[in-house]
Formats: sequence, structure tokens, C-alpha cells
Amino acid sequence: MRYKVIKDADQIILKSPYFVSNPTKYKNGWSKVFGNQKPICLELGMGRGDFIIHMALKYPHMNFIGVELYASQMVAAVTKLQKMDLPNLRLIHMDARDIDQVFGKEIDTIYLTFSEPWPKKQDERKRFTHESYLRLYDKVFKRDKHIILKTDNKKFFAYSLETLSQYWYSFHRVSLDLHHDEIPIENVMTDFEKVYYQEGRAIYYVDARYEN
Ligand SMILES: C[S@@+](CC[C@H](N)C(=O)[O-])C[C@H]1O[C@@H](n2cnc3c(N)ncnc32)[C@H](O)[C@@H]1O
Repeated sequence: MRYKVIKDADQIILKSPYFVSNPTKYKNGWSKVFGNQKPICLELGMGRGDFIIHMALKYPHMNFIGVELYASQMVAAVTKLQKMDLPNLRLIHMDARDIDQVFGKEIDTIYLTFSEPWPKKQDERKRFTHESYLRLYDKVFKRDKHIILKTDNKKFFAYSLETLSQYWYSFHRVSLDLHHDEIPIENVMTDFEKVYYQEGRAIYYVDARYEN
């Protein structure tokens, strides 16, 4: 997917108090960054940030970190945050592939929200639910593993259910139509999700866990 390039995006995000410019420095010390022992949740590929910002607002008893590859995408998030005060939120500009360089075993939940589906077989390893990613997540989960995934892409969803179950995750909750499920699921919409919801597209959802 191609995203709009914003001139000086790196400089803009650097000025935000939410932005962590040298995240490897805090490996195994994120509780100290937040100044508390509350659970830490990551969103990989946070894009323009609506989800992670509203999660931090809704759940002040938890800490949230948004990870994003493109600085231009993050500009929207830091702009929205200008007039907000969210001590439980931080943003990191990095490739999700390297999260084990930034986090030790200190993460409670990973959110995969409308991740790139990488439909071509040759790109399978780039999918955030490829086994190599699931192995990577093992390095940062505190004890139990907990992944919440949302997508509009049926094939990517089916693929993810398969890789997760092959990796011994069990499914706490699955929905083939998150917004119209008979038993409502507590949900905060992402930027992409808002658009798909308006278009009437079904959103697939899974809450996958592995309890040690
Ligand atoms: C389709 S968008 C979804 C954005 C947001 N989660 C939402 O639902 O609105 C996917 C996002 O993942 C980011 N992304 C893709 N690969 C990434 C990677 N390896 N590391 C971090 N972010 C990545 C993209 O830059 C993009 O912002």
C-alpha cells in the first residue's frame, strides 16, 4: 500500500512528547518509562493512530505503545495528540520486525489491526501472523500470549486462524462480522475500520490466547 509522504515527517514526530526516539534504550524498562506496573499493549502498524489513542483514553489502567514503519503516517497521530494528556501512551517509529530489540518479556497484548495482508505467496513471511512473527512475539510476551486481530480481508483472516492454531493459540472469541455479532464485542475502531464500517464491509475479529 502507498501512503502520502509528508515533508519533514521525521522532524514533526520527533517534537511530540509521546514519541520515543531511542526505544532500544528502554528494553526491559518500559514499566519505568510509564512509571507503573500496569499491563503494556502494543499495536503493530498503528497508521494514523486513532485506535491506540482511543484505547489509551478508554483504558487508563493500561499502557499502550503504537509501532509504525512510516513517519508520515505517524504525523496524524502526533497532531491529534497535541491537545491531549495521555500518560499511558507512547509511539515508536520502527519496523515491527525488530520489536525484540526494543522489548524484553514485558508485553501483555499485541493488537494486529488491519495489517497488510501480503496476498502473494512470495510475501508470506511479511504477514504479521506468519510463524516467524509468532516466534518473534514469544520473545516479548511477558508470560501468557494474547493477540487481538481485526481485518476486512477474509483470506488473511483464514490464514491467521490457521497459523495461530498451528502455533497452539486457542480462540477466546471469533467473529466473522464484528459490528453485527449477536453477542457484542467491546471495540474501539481504527482509522481503516471506520472507512470499512461506513462501506458496510464485514470485519473479522479474533481474540487468540496461549496461557502458560
Ligand atoms: C492498512 S494500515 C492499518 C493502519 C491502522 N492499524 C488502522 O487500522 O487504521 C497498515 C499499517 O501498518 C504499517 N506497517 C506495515 N508494515 C509494517 C512494519 N513492518 N512495521 C510497522 N508498521 C508497519 C503501515 O505503514 C500502515 O500504517
